[in-house]
Amino acid sequence: MLQRSNQWRATVFIAAVLTSPVAAQEGSIDYAKGTLIAERACSLCHDVTIDESDPPENKVPSFVKIANEPHQSSERLAETILFPHRDMPQFSFDTPTDLRDVIGYIMSMRGEK
Ligand code: HEC
Repeated sequence: MLQRSNQWRATVFIAAVLTSPVAAQEGSIDYAKGTLIAERACSLCHDVTIDESDPPENKVPSFVKIANEPHQSSERLAETILFPHRDMPQFSFDTPTDLRDVIGYIMSMRGEK
């Protein structure tokens, strides 16, 4: 369970990321950094690149699949990543832009498959 203070911090964090004027601008996302973070922190469980396809026995959805879920949005991703469920470990990102970059990276795969 998240402690109250953590929850508060995460909420402020989400707000900071999503209401930041730069967040709305596609060009401000550092995709290279997002890729790096995805490879470092997420590729243990997820297929994080566009080239990989989900092996049927793999229960963890690939980032391509996640990006292309109906109604997917940066806001939804932020919530999932900051309030992880099931086996997904909680990550602490160094800066709010790290989260934005990794979300930008995932969302860049929307419409690709
Ligand atoms: C230890 C394994 C593990 C790692 C590492 C991991 N995940 Fe996950 N993730 C999972 C599992 C398992 C699920 C499926 C949970 C479910 O469907 O209940 C999941 C689900 C998700 C979802 C929701 C998918 C959906 O259907 O909406 C997102 C978004 C996500 N992960 C993003 C990330 C990101 C970003 C990282 C790296 C910062 C990451 N994950 C690292 C195991 C992991």
